[in-house]
Amino acid sequence: MKVVLAEHAGACYGVQRALDMAGDVLRTDGASNTLGPLIHNPQVVANLEKHGLRVAESVDDVSADTVIIRSHGVTPQVRSQLEDINVRVVDATCPHVLRAQKAAEQLAHDGCRLLIVGEPGHPEVSAIRECARIAGAKVDVVLSPDDIPDNLYAPVGVVIQTTQRREVLDEIVSALQKRNIEPIVRNTICSATSERQLAAARLAEDMDAMVVIGGKNSSNTTRLAEICRTICPRTFHIESDEELSPEMFSGCKSVGVTAGASTPSYQISQVVQMLDAL
Ligand code: F3S
Repeated sequence: MKVVLAEHAGACYGVQRALDMAGDVLRTDGASNTLGPLIHNPQVVANLEKHGLRVAESVDDVSADTVIIRSHGVTPQVRSQLEDINVRVVDATCPHVLRAQKAAEQLAHDGCRLLIVGEPGHPEVSAIRECARIAGAKVDVVLSPDDIPDNLYAPVGVVIQTTQRREVLDEIVSALQKRNIEPIVRNTICSATSERQLAAARLAEDMDAMVVIGGKNSSNTTRLAEICRTICPRTFHIESDEELSPEMFSGCKSVGVTAGASTPSYQISQVVQMLDAL
């Protein structure tokens, strides 16, 4: 069976940076905490925990002298709570997420009514929303044109969650334009997600089966699996090579492999090796 890895797959820049920073912290500071799981990958989080990186569920739950902020970022309120408890803060917020926070803040300073296109309740979105709110904007989080509130006033600024699709942004912008509102749009989508999606879709067209590696709790991996499944129905979303069996690939001559942005390269290598051996 031919095994082909997608052109773009696995840990993105922000996740790799967070993992590298966590490794450095464990070497220099020893036992430390992350505020929430460092990445959406249960195996990696469990492994880090074994090495002394405990997940604190909130600032009140912090039990170490060093705390890592994960790549999604945190709200300004959480940052100041961390300052209050006097811990060393290692900020692994992805620079692309920081860019979205700054864009929202700037639009707020410019007097915009703000729409954030993204999943309500997602930690990255909550942090962007709070940055804009504190900077004085009235903010709504929208995921479809139906979510756009009636009582908008100009100027309207739009910022988008880094991992959203371009089409979602376009839908919101054209719904606003239909209401004669020309929004100021800051496209803060990170290309890592779309690169992985395009590469996976291209590969899925030529393969008998697809394996998508990544946390079941990772929304970008789940979306990757959905995209592959629409093109190649024999798509398996797995978290580790232990979930693979020869029966899954009976009759297959080719299998494509891709992985979400929170999947480190060693997990991809393990799966590729296992598939090669089937
Ligand atoms: Fe950053 Fe983009 Fe990854 S925003 S965390 S590089 S998906």
